[in-house]
Amino acid sequence: MPQHVQGVIAPGRNEPVRVETIVIPDPGPGEAVVKIQACGVCHTDLHYKQGAINDEFPFLLGHEAAGIVESVGEGVTDVTPGDFVVLNWRAVCGTCRACLRGRPWYCFATHNAKQRMTLLDGTELSPALGIGAFAEKTLVAAGQCTKVDPAVAPEVAGLLGCGVMAGIGAAINTGNVGRGDTVAVIGCGGVGDAAIVGSRLAGAAKIIAVDIDDRKLETAKGMGATHTVNSRSTDAVEAIRELTGGFGADVVIEAVGRPETYRQAFYARDLAGTVVLVGVPTPEMKLELPLLDVFGRGGSLKSSWYGDCLPSRDFPMLIDLHQQGRIDLAAFVTETIGLGDVEKAFARMHEGDVLRSVVVL
Ligand code: APR
Ligand code: ZN
Ligand code: ZN
Repeated sequence: MPQHVQGVIAPGRNEPVRVETIVIPDPGPGEAVVKIQACGVCHTDLHYKQGAINDEFPFLLGHEAAGIVESVGEGVTDVTPGDFVVLNWRAVCGTCRACLRGRPWYCFATHNAKQRMTLLDGTELSPALGIGAFAEKTLVAAGQCTKVDPAVAPEVAGLLGCGVMAGIGAAINTGNVGRGDTVAVIGCGGVGDAAIVGSRLAGAAKIIAVDIDDRKLETAKGMGATHTVNSRSTDAVEAIRELTGGFGADVVIEAVGRPETYRQAFYARDLAGTVVLVGVPTPEMKLELPLLDVFGRGGSLKSSWYGDCLPSRDFPMLIDLHQQGRIDLAAFVTETIGLGDVEKAFARMHEGDVLRSVVVL
């Protein structure tokens, strides 16, 4: 029987989001209905609302979530009702070239659930990143559910579904930060702070946090930054060089997504060092670099897509580390809010004092 639940929808470009009754169909083959317990508010939800991702309004927002599997469709064996799961963006196919080459985070032949959630009048909803979890329940592909230890709080577990995984993964999966490395992280919002946590986890000797906001630098210290640089008042590249014996950092992680910060990252890395771009630029952004510098400085220029993560490997591992007290994922939760507060949470993002607002149901 289709169910009626409350969910947060973005009705049209730049229109305020609102709570509406939505209809969740029974799970079909390969699908699961998940009772959402918590879902973080991410920049990408705001981008959906602004029409910056695509025009397929109305959206059912929310994609950084944890909850309990309520029911599963035919053929689903990996998860069963009652399982505590973190949702991921995509149920990978396992057979496309990206999957076969061991890079399933680039699988575009996903087996996500066919969009069948609607408003009461039958209007089809587009779930954000194939999830749509600012809702009491949502319909996803079973392959988007990763079972984790139910002892961890849902508002913490859900964070792994997007921003925190993107940041930690940028350091440990994409940047391959290693023991004794020097790391600089440019931009210390939720994603940059998670990159700091990942760098510490990987055994970095020095972690230099760079931001234009002193409050962010203070938080970054709590996450494990050993040095901070306010790049509004100080030249970031010079400061990073100075803090690394004149060389530059082994790995520089750019978590802003702007040409000027990418340029800083490019020049702040040591010769043969690695630059990881995890901040998401807008389509019109361009950067010109002397090709001779690209050649002469060597190393690698990488970008990190969803932290280059394997949810089935990385979500349970990070939950374990959190449970052991080796990383503190709870530090990313600034506030817990209700379904009706998402619009307010978008406003707070700009004030710069929130790492994550998390909707708790
Ligand atoms: N130099 C250094 N830091 C900057 C600069 C700059 N020129 N401009 C902004 N920042 C800092 C902000 O002060 C803030 O602390 O970058 C941080 C950005 O953090 P958030 O806005 O909280 O964004 P976050 O969720 O961390 O995401 C960062 O990664 O996944 C992408 O789409 C996301 O592009 C975004 C980026
Ligand atoms: Zn695939
Ligand atoms: Zn997100």
